[in-house]
Amino acid sequence: MAFPTTRMRRLRASPALRGLVRETELRADRLVLPLFVSETATTREPIEAMPGVERLPLEEVIAEAREAAALGLGAVLLFGIPAEKDLEGSAAWDDEGVVQRAIAAIKRELPQLLVITDVCLCEYTTHGHCGVLGEEGVVENDATVERIARTAVSHARAGADIVAPSDMMDGRVRAIRAELDSEGYAETPILAYSAKFVSAFYGPFREAAGSSPAFGDRRGYQLDPANGREAVREALLDAEEGADMLMVKPALAYGDLIRAVKQATALPVAAYNVSGEYAMVKAAAAAGYVDERATVCEILTSLHRAGADIVISYHAKDAARWLSESS
Ligand code: PBG
Repeated sequence: MAFPTTRMRRLRASPALRGLVRETELRADRLVLPLFVSETATTREPIEAMPGVERLPLEEVIAEAREAAALGLGAVLLFGIPAEKDLEGSAAWDDEGVVQRAIAAIKRELPQLLVITDVCLCEYTTHGHCGVLGEEGVVENDATVERIARTAVSHARAGADIVAPSDMMDGRVRAIRAELDSEGYAETPILAYSAKFVSAFYGPFREAAGSSPAFGDRRGYQLDPANGREAVREALLDAEEGADMLMVKPALAYGDLIRAVKQATALPVAAYNVSGEYAMVKAAAAAGYVDERATVCEILTSLHRAGADIVISYHAKDAARWLSESS
């Protein structure tokens, strides 16, 4: 007697049957490419811990966006690195700021390409925290929320298609929604970094963006990696406040939460395959310890399998290229 698994064995060797029963599929249009736009860079500046990723001057951001569009990627996610930082992070909501100019330039040239913007203050503050500080150096929630909302509106005004707050303050989604609505951007959706954990995996990003906290850490506002149910609660709160999409970040060690958030809501779920996760794969591949293409495809597929509709990854361009080669 043949067991059900044995019966399928011969056919599984055929690509046609593998295709027929495949549950998840890697697709370029579900991948989002993060880009770092720098106000001071004059040429592409390599980021040591992220081989293949660079801080880009404005013209080069447009070149990258053009490539992302040509590869059929779903969107780009913009991060700004301003020339001047201050205590409040005021360059974040400057209508002439580095991200605002990049958004406008990309939308002018590539109107079809979706532009998502990271909305946070950490790249803009001298102390590197995600908000404004009160007494004793503690981030003040409400004062920060007000500035985050102002920043989101400024991005929308510049032409951002989707705004993505990553600061993790309480009530920011509601505040951003209200501000966008009253300023005439009722149709700009919010992708909330909802389940965002305190993580060692952000190390290379902070080098890239120059956003390491000058003192202390982000434990006051980011989630404890030990707490899964709290992450789901945060996601549900963001949904209730008006988020249109929810994000889990980092991705690889948080597959359980991608699944849990997916099951807890009917909103699209994004997973952010962060800088440290990228760095590990690149380092191991460079040493010849793993096959880069196979490893990346397995990782990205697994995030979709866990429940992510959208995957944000520094591997996005490579993955899209490999997908087009194999089809
Ligand atoms: C800003 C922000 C961070 C990342 C995305 N948005 C850094 C942080 O929270 O310290 C990390 C992305 C990555 O590591 O790739 N708050």
